[in-house]
Amino acid sequence: AAGLKTSWLGRNLYYYDEVGSTNQVAKELADGGAPEGTVVIAEAQTGGRGRRGRSWLSPPHKGIWFSVILRPRVTPALASQLTLLAAVAVAAAIRRHTGLPPGIKWPNDLLAGGRKVCGILTEIKAEIDAIEYVVLGTGLNVNMEAGDFSPEVRPLATSLFLELGRPVARLPLFQEILYQLEKWYERWQEEGFDPVRRAWKEASVTLGREVEVNSWREVFRGVAVDIDAEGALLVRGGGGEVRRFNSGEVSLRPA
Ligand code: ATP
Ligand code: BTN
Repeated sequence: AAGLKTSWLGRNLYYYDEVGSTNQVAKELADGGAPEGTVVIAEAQTGGRGRRGRSWLSPPHKGIWFSVILRPRVTPALASQLTLLAAVAVAAAIRRHTGLPPGIKWPNDLLAGGRKVCGILTEIKAEIDAIEYVVLGTGLNVNMEAGDFSPEVRPLATSLFLELGRPVARLPLFQEILYQLEKWYERWQEEGFDPVRRAWKEASVTLGREVEVNSWREVFRGVAVDIDAEGALLVRGGGGEVRRFNSGEVSLRPA
């Protein structure tokens, strides 16, 4: 915990050489009553998980694979705002620490050079009207080389090392990420979603683009025009009709 720039986030920190998934460990700790701000980080994950049940490559020492437990006192519908908040915070930390400004692909993929450099997996446990906890899991490819990616993932993925052409020290970057997360989370609690929404829109590479939204019920094509006050994506179809999509139910393809 030496060098932490936060006042509460990450002060309770679990560090592992290897785990299955830091999200899984964090959920177990949260079920056991771990306080808000608890962080779980591992050098390697053997069963790292991505969105929609996919696996997440997490080889030893090459990335920042970690999860944070939050206990926001808001309705479950607002949990998707935290997903966007995490993308804004991690993107700010990367930009400040390396000079590289990542783009945000809705809802929360960070892209560099058009490829995925970071993914965020939000898991929530809630009652009808209250959140028990949210686990925000972040996977950031720091010093991954091309050979560290599987052949299927390689054309879609990148790392800070591959983009910058030099290795990046992980510890100070991780400290900056925790600092930005704490700062944006406190700001969100005090000022609501508006500042997050503005920062998200500034870094977005999705808005203004043709997209294809794949939800469980349909495929919808149109132009991504905005995100609304809850964090849902607004897409305008060919007939001018605007549809609203929540992050949980869809994936985006460039159309
Ligand atoms: P999403 O599920 O967020 O919509 P995607 O399919 O749009 O993701 P792509 O950039 O198209 O993301 O593809 C990257 C693929 O590689 C995803 O399936 C992602 O889960 C997978 N992947 C696994 N490990 C990694 C990693 N370490 N870095 C980047 N991508 C990874
Ligand atoms: C995505 O599909 O884009 C989300 C990837 C999230 C990966 C991170 S790595 C730390 C945490 N533990 C996991 O098993 N997944 C997340």
